[in-house]
Amino acid sequence: MPTPSGPRPTALRQRALDTATTVVQRVWGLAKRHGTVTPGHPLSRRFGSMGEGSWVSFPPGDYVNLHAVHLGRNVVIGADVTLAVGMPTEEYPADCEPVISFGDRTTVGKGCWFVARQQVLLEEDVTLAPNVYITDHNHTYADPWLPVGQQILQCDPVRIGAGTWIGTNVVVLPGADVGRNCAIAAGTVVRGTIPDHSVVAGVPGKVVRRWTEEDGWQPPMARPVVVLPGWPVGVPPADRTPTPEA
Ligand SMILES: CC(C)(COP(=O)(O)OP(=O)(O)OC[C@H]1O[C@@H](n2cnc3c(N)ncnc32)[C@H](O)[C@@H]1OP(=O)(O)O)[C@@H](O)C(=O)NCCC(=O)NCCS
Repeated sequence: MPTPSGPRPTALRQRALDTATTVVQRVWGLAKRHGTVTPGHPLSRRFGSMGEGSWVSFPPGDYVNLHAVHLGRNVVIGADVTLAVGMPTEEYPADCEPVISFGDRTTVGKGCWFVARQQVLLEEDVTLAPNVYITDHNHTYADPWLPVGQQILQCDPVRIGAGTWIGTNVVVLPGADVGRNCAIAAGTVVRGTIPDHSVVAGVPGKVVRRWTEEDGWQPPMARPVVVLPGWPVGVPPADRTPTPEA
């Protein structure tokens, strides 16, 4: 008997699987490239506001009461970022005050979580690495007999000061008030008030280095920072020329 020519059934099956994989990869790539939401897109109207030049990546995370989330100008929200104002069963009026706010030029890495009921405010130029969790509420646990998950929630607003950088896997707890231009080390749990220009590390987060006008960086930097020619340098507030909008 002559042997049938062409691929055998297993080879055919493999080819079909390869084609399916290619199609899935290509479609997903297209979705990531073209699924970005920018101001003016109908989906941007789900946000309380979205300033000029801002964009929200694909795929989105979970969204709850997006009308209480406000984005300034040139804000970048990475993929898979959860923006939850309350739980899906909780209604916030259409004209409610902003609950989660991102200042101009703030960048949020992939997989971050914002779970808020009262206020989480990120001022301008804040940078968040991937997988940061920020919340403004705790379950209370005072009643020894009621499951903690059913006990009343207590809210305490959170602020992240302008120019602060938050490393990966940081958790920011209710009531945290982080100053400007701080660096929060990877894995830190942040609570309480953090002064401007602090480096904070550990669980619970402690100030491990700080800059002040009087003493500069204390303790001094472990390694010198070499700035490449052409790299921008900061201008002290007193030396800044006022901009028309200031
Ligand atoms: C904080 C960081 C920037 C280093 O800053 P630095 O000023 O150079 O700090 P140093 O390396 O001098 O460390 C200062 C102290 O903090 C401690 N420390 C630094 N990073 C820490 C961390 N992630 N967790 C716990 N302690 C940390 C150091 O051990 C040191 O403590 P010691 O003086 O008792 O030895 C860096 O460690 C870090 O965590 N980077 C985050 C990286 C990241 O998430 N990248 C995402 C890219 S967007």
